[in-house]
Amino acid sequence: MNAPTEAVAIAPPAAPAAPAAGADPAGSRRRGAGDVVLEVKNISLAFGGVKALTDISFDVREHEVRAIIGPNGAGKSSMLNCINGVYTPQQGTITFRGQSFQHMNSRQVAEMGIARTFQSLALFKGMSVLDNIMSGRNLKMRSSIISQALRNPWFSGAEREEVAHREFVERIIDFLEIQAYRKVPVGRLPYGLQKRVDLGRALAMQPQVLLLDEPMAGMNVEEKQDMSRFILDVNDEYGTTIVLIEHDMGVVMDISDRVVVLDYGRKIGDGTPAEVRANPEVISAYLGTSH
Ligand SMILES: Nc1ncnc2c1ncn2[C@@H]1O[C@H](COP(=O)(O)OP(=O)(O)OP(=O)(O)O)[C@@H](O)[C@H]1O
Ligand SMILES: [Mg+2]
Repeated sequence: MNAPTEAVAIAPPAAPAAPAAGADPAGSRRRGAGDVVLEVKNISLAFGGVKALTDISFDVREHEVRAIIGPNGAGKSSMLNCINGVYTPQQGTITFRGQSFQHMNSRQVAEMGIARTFQSLALFKGMSVLDNIMSGRNLKMRSSIISQALRNPWFSGAEREEVAHREFVERIIDFLEIQAYRKVPVGRLPYGLQKRVDLGRALAMQPQVLLLDEPMAGMNVEEKQDMSRFILDVNDEYGTTIVLIEHDMGVVMDISDRVVVLDYGRKIGDGTPAEVRANPEVISAYLGTSH
């Protein structure tokens, strides 16, 4: 494709043609925890009498994989819902790259660079893999096409932009190794692949921070290994900061840099996987029971 005459404001990262062969063992992976990119401060959220979150504070550093763990009903999904603007906490603030917010809707949060996958899949089952991932690109497409139109009333660049967006999506499809299914309706794919498409839809938003709510729930061991590898590859090769809710402690210990532990809406642990594993409160509340 010829270079556009005007700067195309979608600047895809140098997405690799294919992920690195085989996952790096977590220990040898490049650990680039940088400055704090996301700060959660004194968040409290209640639904009537149910206290889903009580005075929760933690931070997320640039380029790390930050896990949130805890028993069922601990408040993990509610925490992600506060970060991405689905819920508005009654107390506390969330700061993303120095910008504090308490009342921000999901779209505004997405525009800031925070994308999300949901615990229950939110894909269009009748639509193809390609179109589902393209739907994640809509936010970027609308804004770039509108700004293009404002600059040029004859829309001469719009088509070229559409091509660039499609190429970006095709690179994600290659990256996630789902080329063979690109035209297949998502509803016909096995569950593990649907979760991968959901990851692709979130990646299409080109997020700086990716919030993943149980991306491996319901998967078999092999599917979990695949998904772990893709998450690490996204983190390493796209440089995306990851916040991950996961119940499988083996996975959490393998792929995360730091772990927050919630129990009944309170934070009971925060540290490296080794620190959290040795925390007596965590052991009795969580590790000791289900794992
Ligand atoms: N929209 C809502 N309305 C009322 N109560 C809610 C709502 N969302 C969450 N809750 C309650 O808040 C508490 C925390 O729920 P949440 O879904 O955040 O837990 P979780 O840690 O994600 O659990 P799981 O591991 O089962 O997904 C629970 O008691 C839940 O019933
Ligand atoms: Mg949940």
